[in-house]
Amino acid sequence: MKTAGKTVFSWVFPAGEASKNIDNAMKLCAYAAELKLGRNALFAALGGGVTGDLAGFAAATFLRGIDYVQIPTTLLAAVDSSVGGKTAVDIPSGKNLVGAFKQPLRVICDIDTFETLPDVVFHDGCAECIKYGVLQSPRLLEIFSKGTEAVKENIAEVVAESVRIKADYVANDEFDTGIRRYLNLGHTIGHAVEKPGNFERFSHGESVGIG
Ligand code: GLY
Repeated sequence: MKTAGKTVFSWVFPAGEASKNIDNAMKLCAYAAELKLGRNALFAALGGGVTGDLAGFAAATFLRGIDYVQIPTTLLAAVDSSVGGKTAVDIPSGKNLVGAFKQPLRVICDIDTFETLPDVVFHDGCAECIKYGVLQSPRLLEIFSKGTEAVKENIAEVVAESVRIKADYVANDEFDTGIRRYLNLGHTIGHAVEKPGNFERFSHGESVGIG
């Protein structure tokens, strides 16, 4: 980055859904303001879905909107939240209730980062991919019917096919007023499953699977 004439600052927060709140979004904006960043600054969300949603929301509001890139490091974030420009934080009344549509400048996904994921986190992402299979892809269902090893062997194809399907829905309905709502398959009931357990009893992927 230095040779490109750019300076990188990092802002790190505790992992988990509990961190996806307005206080943290404002802390990130305050940090950017302290650094006197201007509209030419870029936020880069390196992490899972919580990171992407939080950094994306901060990017949508800091200085009334600056660019950001998504660098998902979980399967779930790679195939869902990093694509499509939905950014948000949770408030006590519910998940993702304060947010903005803000498309990332780029999504950069290195599938090797999935190798360090605990099984339960990897399986979270699988639930989302199976959703794309149910919606539109016999090929995804074929891979998933063969089990986790087959999924891992074909992970590049799984991500590419899932993102292709998601991007297609988003291109046709960016602001979620019609066909994009198909992507909520499993989520609407899933959110109701997650909330009573304070987002800890069931993971997001498990909740989507149940949904
Ligand atoms: N996760 C559903 C959507 O992006 O519309």
